[in-house]
Amino acid sequence: MSIEIEVLNGDASWTQAKPLYDAIWPPEVVAGLPWAGISFAHADLRVLVQDETGEVLCHVGIYRRLVTWNGQKVNVGGIGGVLTRADMRNRGLATVGLNAAIQTMRHEESINYAILFCAADRVPFYMARGFIPFDGEVYAEQPEKGRVRFDTLSALVHDVKRNAPTRGTIDLCGLPW
Ligand SMILES: CC(C)(COP(=O)(O)OP(=O)(O)OC[C@H]1O[C@@H](n2cnc3c(N)ncnc32)[C@H](O)[C@@H]1OP(=O)(O)O)[C@@H](O)C(=O)NCCC(=O)NCCS
Repeated sequence: MSIEIEVLNGDASWTQAKPLYDAIWPPEVVAGLPWAGISFAHADLRVLVQDETGEVLCHVGIYRRLVTWNGQKVNVGGIGGVLTRADMRNRGLATVGLNAAIQTMRHEESINYAILFCAADRVPFYMARGFIPFDGEVYAEQPEKGRVRFDTLSALVHDVKRNAPTRGTIDLCGLPW
């Protein structure tokens, strides 16, 4: 099987990514996940790994964001919505998608490091792919609640242009991803 990797505008490619989201995270599944009820941002870019017919096999969302770290403004790249179709797992597709996401960030002028959030049991998967746990505090915005501590998911970071911090306070200055 040959695969094609595309990096597309997030809004424009949502219709291509949506079937994968609907299959893996239908509302009844999301209801049982640790992040049920949390509002998330929409991806600015999407890495789509497709088969030769254009079917999306794997998705990785990229989020451009000006956050603060210990009160200082810094441009980071968020990574979220890492999804591989159930029948195509364990073939390295998410690894390919994550590598493409980091590579895309390297090509963007302003992204200093990447931040990803995941359930605790996924941490080893991302650590095996170069992500490092962020041991500090994370804050984010939520509708009607304003700025809240965001500790439902584990935070991991990945160097891009600069070494990512592993301590301190990150304020996402918006919705999480
Ligand atoms: C998590 C998830 C995205 C992983 O996708 P995937 O495409 O199966 O990931 P990969 O194939 O790159 O890696 C998975 C495992 O496959 C194996 N693998 C990787 N490349 C391989 C290859 N070329 N050949 C055979 N096996 C391979 C490895 O064992 C790897 O796990 P490990 O390195 O941690 O031991 C997928 O399970 C998924 O969509 N889960 C549901 C949604 C979800 O939980 N997303 C994460 C949100 S944070």
